[in-house]
Amino acid sequence: MNDLLRYHAEDQFAAELNALQAFDTRPKPPNWMLSPWAVSIYLLGGTLDDGTSITPKYIGDRRIIEIAVATLATDRALLLLGVPGTAKSWVSEHLAAAICGDSTLLVQGTAGISEEAMRYGWNYARLLAEGPSRAALVESPLMRAMQTGKICRIEELTRIPADVQDTLITVLSEKTLPIPELNDEVQAIKGFSVIATANDRDRGINDMSSALVRRFNTVVLPTPATLDDVVSIVQQRVASMGRTLEIPAQTDGLDEIRRVVTVFRELRAGITMDGQTKLKSPSSTLSTAEAISVVLNGLSLAAHFGDGVLTSENMASGIVGAVIKDPSTDRGVWLEYLETVARTREDWSSFYDACRSISE
Ligand SMILES: Nc1ncnc2c1ncn2[C@@H]1O[C@H](COP(=O)(O)OP(=O)(O)O)[C@@H](O)[C@H]1O
Ligand SMILES: [Mg+2]
Repeated sequence: MNDLLRYHAEDQFAAELNALQAFDTRPKPPNWMLSPWAVSIYLLGGTLDDGTSITPKYIGDRRIIEIAVATLATDRALLLLGVPGTAKSWVSEHLAAAICGDSTLLVQGTAGISEEAMRYGWNYARLLAEGPSRAALVESPLMRAMQTGKICRIEELTRIPADVQDTLITVLSEKTLPIPELNDEVQAIKGFSVIATANDRDRGINDMSSALVRRFNTVVLPTPATLDDVVSIVQQRVASMGRTLEIPAQTDGLDEIRRVVTVFRELRAGITMDGQTKLKSPSSTLSTAEAISVVLNGLSLAAHFGDGVLTSENMASGIVGAVIKDPSTDRGVWLEYLETVARTREDWSSFYDACRSISE
């Protein structure tokens, strides 16, 4: 059990979930493990009366999480919408873990997904041998969630072709999944719901039909408002991931974290923080999630090939790699940023030199 590279949220945070459950005296919706209040504490963090501390999973506006949890306590499904890297998948996993103790009923939306992956398929050997029967039917995660009263997560809903998406309409409005081959159906038991995620950027690839949109309550996960918010998210996530990956480096390189977040924000916004210099934006997303992985990468370099202290040299290659996704356009944008912005900042000289030497 100790050797998994990544644990499901409900396993990794089992101790927190148990403590919350022991403490939770508020009313729970049918088949929920925790009350909506306790679910929100699990996501936002806090300290229980007995001193147990619950780590924050989502760092941001508390109201967003409250609305998401309240939605799931009704019979409506939840759609988390936002640009890449705004913690949609992360929040979806933790909501499922806290509400039904199982975040694994997951359908990954892709352009090539079949209707079987959404509804059910057949075990063809059995189908041929025995004819259609419930035993020959291969349940989808959605069907299993309906039968067990759990939450089904659907990732990247708008990447799914429109006709397959529309399978969800009956499920969400009638709470039933017909099986015409068996003249049968699966009816959802209480506790069943769906959390879907979709990227703003993907909009237009497969727009959701208005019939489907109406079955969801949409909650937008925003990009963090201020630089300090991002720095604090990156810091907390890196500290926790660094522990899990057992990277033996100091995680207090606050100046370096602040710098990568500044670089990403300025490039994304197309203007420097002081509003003085206009910049071109690269094609890359430069999200919070990417800042987190650049810092982790830097820490690994510092730990294994440096003296354990995060330096600008450790950060440079990760930053350059994150910014330059499409070399034909992003390289020019990056070099211009280096020359017009990074070079002129006083305490950025070693960062500038490090980037310069690998951007040549
Ligand atoms: N506001 C936030 N609070 C906590 N973690 C965040 C936040 N924003 C981004 N992250 C981190 O970013 C990483 C990637 O998020 P992810 O859920 O994969 O993004 P999305 O699905 O929106 O593209 C996660 O590890 C998450 O911890
Ligand atoms: Mg995602």
